Amino acid sequence: MARVFSGIQPSGTLHLGNYLGALQRFVQRQEVDDAYYCIVDLHALTLEISPEVLRQATIDTAALFLAAGIDPDRCVLFVQGHVPEHTQLAWLLECTASYGELQRMTQFKDKAQGRDQVRSSLLTYPVLMAADVLLYDTNIVPVGDDQRQHLELTRNLAERFNHRYGKTFVVPEMDIPEIGARIMDLQVPTKKMSKSTSSPQGLIALSDTPAEIERKFRRAVTDSETEVRYDPEHKPGVSNLLEILAAANGADPAGLAPGIASYGELKQAAADAVIELFAPVRERYAELAADPGTVAAALRKGAEKAEAIAAPTLERAQRAIGLLST
Ligand code: TYM
Repeated sequence: MARVFSGIQPSGTLHLGNYLGALQRFVQRQEVDDAYYCIVDLHALTLEISPEVLRQATIDTAALFLAAGIDPDRCVLFVQGHVPEHTQLAWLLECTASYGELQRMTQFKDKAQGRDQVRSSLLTYPVLMAADVLLYDTNIVPVGDDQRQHLELTRNLAERFNHRYGKTFVVPEMDIPEIGARIMDLQVPTKKMSKSTSSPQGLIALSDTPAEIERKFRRAVTDSETEVRYDPEHKPGVSNLLEILAAANGADPAGLAPGIASYGELKQAAADAVIELFAPVRERYAELAADPGTVAAALRKGAEKAEAIAAPTLERAQRAIGLLST
């Protein structure tokens, strides 16, 4: 059985990109793999976020995971801040990474751009992400396309550490889906759908009502032609809608195009598919939101199981690098 690890930040509402690029596959993988899923609250602190919002978003994200079908009896679901080994290993890996390679991360450059105050954790964040993955002897990391560079770094750090201090870490593979790995903003289809930069009209939240979903798809930006064709370079808006429809139905975006007569029909089909996908999630989410005790209990159990795996890996890394045991 492959060990799988992945994480999602609790920095706002989860959106369609998170669902199609990551969460949907977390649910599939828990059936066949030894899966660890983490709500990475420490990562959310790299940008300004109020304590109340962080607290609420962490609980809400956990409830959405459960509502989407993550089953704590089939996988380990936990909050990063409950397992102190993450930050402890991150320090050892910061002593393995270089300043130059962290500065080259495109997400760092994008997120730092235009801010007067950049938290130093925004620079070192990919190292904490590497610690997340390496602590669990992870074989496979299911993620969307925007995490590719961070996972290359994770692999490089694991290899560098192993080479310098002896074999300590498993070097993980990434699993990026062919369809749905980069869902674009509905209003600006050349930019990815994103919690931090998309407008409410450009983003479909997991908590949107069917009427909101329908309205957002109806207003999605397309182009001035009329032909429905899959061509991400020249027709980014139409191609994004085809990609969403394909990812929701497990189909191929180029193959769907000839069967759709107009942009209006495409928008309606994409809206219907997403409404159908999200309806059961919304329903279960409403039940769980009224029962925070169940969510908290699942997270407590998850943290214990996670720590049982993380602690020996940290210990191994500490001994390898030359720290004394107590
Ligand atoms: P985050 O919270 O930004 O996103 C969570 C997951 O959703 C995917 N995703 C998308 N997929 C398709 N289209 C989009 N528009 C889209 N936007 C986001 C992301 O690729 C991701 O898989 N650093 C990570 C969280 C993290 C992590 C980890 C992931 C922390 N430690 C260890 C894997 C392993 C992040 O900020 O993802």
